[in-house]
Amino acid sequence: MKNIVLVGFMGAGKSVVGKKLATLLKRKLVSTDVLIVEREKRPISDIFKDSGEPYFRAVEKETVAEVSKRTDLIIDCGGGVVLSRENLNNLKENGIVIYLKAGAEVILERVKHEKHRPLLNVPDPKAKINELLSIRQSYYEQAHHTIDTSTKTPEEVAREILKLLPHD
Ligand code: S3P
Repeated sequence: MKNIVLVGFMGAGKSVVGKKLATLLKRKLVSTDVLIVEREKRPISDIFKDSGEPYFRAVEKETVAEVSKRTDLIIDCGGGVVLSRENLNNLKENGIVIYLKAGAEVILERVKHEKHRPLLNVPDPKAKINELLSIRQSYYEQAHHTIDTSTKTPEEVAREILKLLPHD
């Protein structure tokens, strides 16, 4: 069975929707961020701080290449995975890629009390969200399907994804 690959901005609901899907489909959930943290034995914020974003992206690329070879998974991807064409091609090889979309206001509301995302740990996170969203929009839109999560519960989003899967 093809992987179900969740892409989208930080706070779009990839992790929580991924968990719901894993339960509903009885499939294994893997997160590229969790795999990176395990591999590096340090949190994402330390990787960014001590080794820089390009290093993080290189580790992310290797992680995506490895996980893309597997099947039957739900894959929760870090928000910047789509920036590499190679990542997206690898993920599409064995997977259905779904873009979970949310507006800047909703994202800000969801992430504002969290401190573990180095890219948003800045004086004006709202401006940063808008800036990154405008850069990334066209990359996210290369997914096979898009679901707007702004006004939906994770359960509703997961059930919408189920409807997109091929039926036998
Ligand atoms: C990033 C998103 C994060 C994490 C890293 C970079 C991004 O993952 O990979 O902080 O570039 O958008 P989440 O989208 O799971 O927060």
